[in-house]
Amino acid sequence: MKEKTTQDRVVLITGAGKGIGRAVVEALARRAEVAGSPLALCLSARTRSDLETLKTRLDSSTVRCEVVAGDLADAPTQPVEACLARFGRIDALIHCAGVGRFKDFLDQTALDLEFTLKTNVTATFLLLQRVYAVMRAQAP
Ligand SMILES: NC(=O)c1ccc[n+]([C@@H]2O[C@H](COP(=O)([O-])OP(=O)(O)OC[C@H]3O[C@@H](n4cnc5c(N)ncnc54)[C@H](OP(=O)(O)O)[C@@H]3O)[C@@H](O)[C@H]2O)c1
Repeated sequence: MKEKTTQDRVVLITGAGKGIGRAVVEALARRAEVAGSPLALCLSARTRSDLETLKTRLDSSTVRCEVVAGDLADAPTQPVEACLARFGRIDALIHCAGVGRFKDFLDQTALDLEFTLKTNVTATFLLLQRVYAVMRAQAP
């Protein structure tokens, strides 16, 4: 079976600065470099320095990175608008941003719950809703 390539793809990755998101970004960039297939990556997370470090490392004639620093809990669709402004489309979303306040059940407060739900649930819903609208509008 022929392997799919990353050619001409624009990928938005949330949580790109650390952990799973960063590992996915690195794997996608590596694959694009090996295949020589142009790839545009829109890197989103709260910590700008994490994203700038990745961009500095990965930017090449094959891989182009855009950095979007911001809190999804405050502005869930900001990375989508930034990606569209820079690259004009979104072919794939890899949504890895997420938080967890891991405490004993009895120590969890309403604020802990609200903090987690705002990022992991509300922002996820609004982000996916916006990306779906963009992808539907892009469909031939
Ligand atoms: N790693 C695992 O084995 C595992 C297993 C099951 C589930 N999960 C869940 O999967 C998600 C990712 O895990 P991970 O290990 O990759 O976590 P991680 O290393 O903490 O990375 C999370 C990434 O998401 C970003 N982020 C978090 N909250 C954000 C927000 N409100 N707005 C924008 N960016 C935000 C972080 O940015 P900043 O650091 O800049 O804030 C960071 O780049 C988490 O929800 C985690 O609970 C992980």
